[in-house]
Amino acid sequence: MTHAQRRALTECWARFGSDVSAALEPERLFGRHAPLVLEIGFGDGESLAAMAMAHPEMDYLGVEVHRPGIGHVLLRAEALGLSNLRVMCADAIEVLRRLPDQSLERVQIYFPDPWPKARHHKRRLIQPPFIALLIPKLKWVGQLHVATDCEDYARSILNVLRVAPELTNMVDGDGFAPRPAYRPLTRFERRGRRLGHEVWDMLFARSQSEA
Ligand SMILES: C[S@@+](CC[C@H](N)C(=O)[O-])C[C@H]1O[C@@H](n2cnc3c(N)ncnc32)[C@H](O)[C@@H]1O
Repeated sequence: MTHAQRRALTECWARFGSDVSAALEPERLFGRHAPLVLEIGFGDGESLAAMAMAHPEMDYLGVEVHRPGIGHVLLRAEALGLSNLRVMCADAIEVLRRLPDQSLERVQIYFPDPWPKARHHKRRLIQPPFIALLIPKLKWVGQLHVATDCEDYARSILNVLRVAPELTNMVDGDGFAPRPAYRPLTRFERRGRRLGHEVWDMLFARSQSEA
């Protein structure tokens, strides 16, 4: 962790950080009522801060467990003077459990740890129990946006999302979506691109199941 990141964790936490309390109340966190985007595993948070800057009408809640990344995004939030970004140093599962149902406009998970070795696949974040926890937190028509550069994980995620109740793929064809204009390249993605990696985006929406 750099000196600046450590300083940010101390000096900027009160402004942009939030501890995981018993029940999370987004409106209290942001001091207003606005569409809420949750980003899980934002890494260094550069792309998250850029999105918050580009969309002042939305609120962005970032969750990350890597403290240097949190320090980094706090520095960006301070430099950009963002009022619509809050971050939590916590496991995404704990945060999801505490968010109210139907509170999220979008959940974005960009380049979740791929755990490429078969014996480590059980450590992957995007699996049926995690998606079952996440779905009720989405608003009706709220979106889940995932991107990965690991083909095997991309196919596994697509299979999990395709059979998840209430989720509908927003694209036809092979099920993968073009990168939406609102998503900047992330740090992890840029590194992968330099190594020639392809990227797969997946975009699903919560839809009321037909009775
Ligand atoms: C491969 S990195 C990608 C980071 C960033 N999204 C990017 O594209 O540059 C995955 C990130 O997810 C974070 N992460 C993994 N499991 C998590 C969890 N359960 N809750 C929150 N963050 C998590 C890791 O700390 C790591 O920073």
